[in-house]
Amino acid sequence: MSQQQKILLVTGGSRGIGRSIALHAAQRGIGVILTFNNQQKHGQAVADEINNNGGKAIALHLDIANTASFDDFTITVRDILKEKWNRTSFDYLVNNGGIGQRVLIKDTTESIFDQLVNVNFKGVFFLTQKLLPIIADGGQIINISSGLARFAFPGSAVYGALKSGLEALTRYFAKEFAARRIRVNSVAPGAIDTEFGGGKGDENQRQQMAAMIAAGRLGEADDVGAFVASLLSDDSRYLNAQRVEVGGGIFI
Ligand SMILES: NC(=O)c1ccc[n+]([C@@H]2O[C@H](COP(=O)([O-])OP(=O)(O)OC[C@H]3O[C@@H](n4cnc5c(N)ncnc54)[C@H](OP(=O)(O)O)[C@@H]3O)[C@@H](O)[C@H]2O)c1
Repeated sequence: MSQQQKILLVTGGSRGIGRSIALHAAQRGIGVILTFNNQQKHGQAVADEINNNGGKAIALHLDIANTASFDDFTITVRDILKEKWNRTSFDYLVNNGGIGQRVLIKDTTESIFDQLVNVNFKGVFFLTQKLLPIIADGGQIINISSGLARFAFPGSAVYGALKSGLEALTRYFAKEFAARRIRVNSVAPGAIDTEFGGGKGDENQRQQMAAMIAAGRLGEADDVGAFVASLLSDDSRYLNAQRVEVGGGIFI
């Protein structure tokens, strides 16, 4: 009898790191529910690429800042699990979608602060809470953190503090979800060459950044995507409540 397909739900799967996580997971035979926020075309393109290559994927809209939409989103996910996979639960949740904005503390308005909190922390907390009943026992949650939770970079105070908070939340999730054998870890990308927060600057800034990385280069989305997908298996079964930095050795 063939084994039931494992299923991943990854937020922010339309671009960058989330897109790469979705594609690498699909290559490993995992079914994918990916979400997009503003970029429906990109989100659909990722799902199409997976479906056209023999995998199974669907792209759904989700604004992580809109906690009021989470009940309906959860119902939609339930319906899709039933229709597409004949299942009542999924196996892996990757909280990846996020925003960054470089702004010094003196210039940080309450509106910028709230936006960063809502997407990068509050949304992750309540989305996980709402989805928890349909995450399978023995499943996994991975929260995408940041190197900026470990080192301070001017202009990233709120973002970095929120990612530190997310790493603490990871340990609390692991503690409280242990009764259902759900493991929870955080993966902290270093400087990854995506459009995040407006990109990695001009050539000069990029070279300066690369010089601070033992690997001698910025990371690519696939450097993180391949790693996260590799955790989505029983091979990582004893990894729990940990932070793993995927940064090529940045600021060591
Ligand atoms: N790139 C880096 O250097 C770096 C370093 C450390 C950590 N990270 C973390 O890695 C994660 C992914 O970053 P990335 O580099 O892949 O960024 P990206 O290329 O800018 O992609 C961001 C993704 O998040 C989604 N998103 C943004 N706001 C959202 C919202 N309100 N609700 C739902 N989804 C939303 C976007 O969806 P749409 O495009 O559909 O709007 C997109 O799919 C983030 O959590 C980020 O903090 C990145």
